[in-house]
Amino acid sequence: MSDLEKDRTSPLWDEVHMPFYPGLKDHLDTEVCIVGGGIAGLSIAYKLSKRGHKVVLLEASRIGSGQSGRTTAHLSYQTEEQLDKMIKSHNKEDLKEFVLAHKEAIDEIEETIIQENISCDFKRLDGYLFLGPEDDDDLLKREVSLGRELGLNLSFVEAIPAFSHLGAAVLYPEQAQFHPVKYMAGLLRVMKELDVLVYENSRVKEFSIEDEQHKVVTEDGFTVKSRYLVVATDSPVNNRFYIHTKQSAYRSYVVGFEMKHKMSLPLMWDTADPYRYIRGSGNTFILGGEDHRTGQNPSEDPFDKLISWAREHFPVAGEVTWKWSGQVFEPVDGMAYIGKNPGPEKNVFIVTGQSGLGMTSATIASRIIPDLIEGKSNHLTNIFEPSRLALSDKAEYLKDNSINAFQYKDWITPADVKNVHDIPSDEGRLMRDGLLKTCVYHNESDEYETKSAVCPHLGAIVKWNDLEKSWDCPCHGSRFNSHGKVIEGPALSDLLGP
Ligand SMILES: Cc1cc2nc3c(=O)[nH]c(=O)nc-3n(C[C@H](O)[C@H](O)[C@H](O)COP(=O)(O)OP(=O)(O)OC[C@H]3O[C@@H](n4cnc5c(N)ncnc54)[C@H](O)[C@@H]3O)c2cc1C
Ligand code: FES
Repeated sequence: MSDLEKDRTSPLWDEVHMPFYPGLKDHLDTEVCIVGGGIAGLSIAYKLSKRGHKVVLLEASRIGSGQSGRTTAHLSYQTEEQLDKMIKSHNKEDLKEFVLAHKEAIDEIEETIIQENISCDFKRLDGYLFLGPEDDDDLLKREVSLGRELGLNLSFVEAIPAFSHLGAAVLYPEQAQFHPVKYMAGLLRVMKELDVLVYENSRVKEFSIEDEQHKVVTEDGFTVKSRYLVVATDSPVNNRFYIHTKQSAYRSYVVGFEMKHKMSLPLMWDTADPYRYIRGSGNTFILGGEDHRTGQNPSEDPFDKLISWAREHFPVAGEVTWKWSGQVFEPVDGMAYIGKNPGPEKNVFIVTGQSGLGMTSATIASRIIPDLIEGKSNHLTNIFEPSRLALSDKAEYLKDNSINAFQYKDWITPADVKNVHDIPSDEGRLMRDGLLKTCVYHNESDEYETKSAVCPHLGAIVKWNDLEKSWDCPCHGSRFNSHGKVIEGPALSDLLGP
């Protein structure tokens, strides 16, 4: 999909091709500069341009080549953590605003699709939360009762239609799904008519302020100056520290199976930890799950685990046709961070920590950020405020940060191998060079590429991800391809030479 070698696995959505856009080869001045061409950047650019603003959008690679092209695109207000857990970190009013914002976002996406005539396989359907092996009906009943108190029309059902063997479930009515790449392509078509300037292969590597304007510089040395800056890079690459202490990066895995007989699937999730998520698309049965923290490689193959679980529970799942993985950022209190970037600079906005609700969070961001730019009040601003830290999150916050701090132990742990000849072809291993650690990739030309293993973000030691052939940082989720080129922030630059 991109000139930059990113992940090796291909998602099902890659079957649809995005239009190509040029790289930035000029110095520009604009009103709003958006960095990041995923669903968040595009949704905000679409809304701002509809409201008459002048927008330039810069994408490091190809549009949609980030997590928006690797998602499963359930459009849902079913929260990542059960409401029962969420209520421990939030008061009822805030939690109500949060779930209703996601519910309204689905309605708004549907309206946009109709109004702009976007053909993206949008479909309204029911969603069901069923039990993982360690939970019981009480959990589901508590979810229903709390959901109703929040104004959601949830109900407890003894069985999911056509899947009664999964047992009781919570019915979430009026969910939806779509094809994320077709939706993004539709937004791009409208944005073109509204003169939004889009540039691909234009990675921003510097942020500064000059003459009271925000200035970004791309890898090729071209600049965009703007009054307002929106950083929609999933993990904000402008924010070096604060926001990354409040969220954790996880890898998630997806398998597509050809359906043995065509059937209409609802959206489904279970209450296991990590949970599994299910939907259909055409003749493909899609199952995701087996999440783990980035850089902590599991001992068993996550795809094998998903496949055997599907074989046990879903006889309709036939031959495996797709396998891919992606990254999600989990906020410490379960709610995304959308709004003003914490810090002294004015007019800088971020959207991050979207967990498994990034499709609807993008639309929420497209409501909040244009209002902030126009100085209008928006009742959602406080709920999604990036600088918030509720007291009740303290334990989780400290736990996550002590896990992050623990990652620095890798400076002193032994190397993976002592001799480069022990590194299989197309794989990477950590080695020692005196006190330093290096990462060595055995490339397909039978050469050994050596880089420093120190993450340029805040200095943790990266780990080899054999599935995507990348170097992943366990601390805040930065990722680098096998040659050490940065593919995901918060790091802004590549792994250094040794
Ligand atoms: C396997 C999986 C399943 C998921 N399932 C769901 C689901 O069912 N429903 C749901 O709502 N959400 C789901 N999510 C989450 C959702 O996909 C994401 O939250 C969402 O796509 C994030 O969108 P984004 O636009 O913020 O980021 P991205 O799509 O990652 O876009 C960010 C863009 O910024 C670019 N960029 C990065 N750095 C720079 C730079 N320095 N300069 C310029 N550009 C840069 C990147 O190249 C990228 O294209 C899932 C995620 C995964 C991985
Ligand atoms: S991502 Fe923060 S240290 Fe690597």
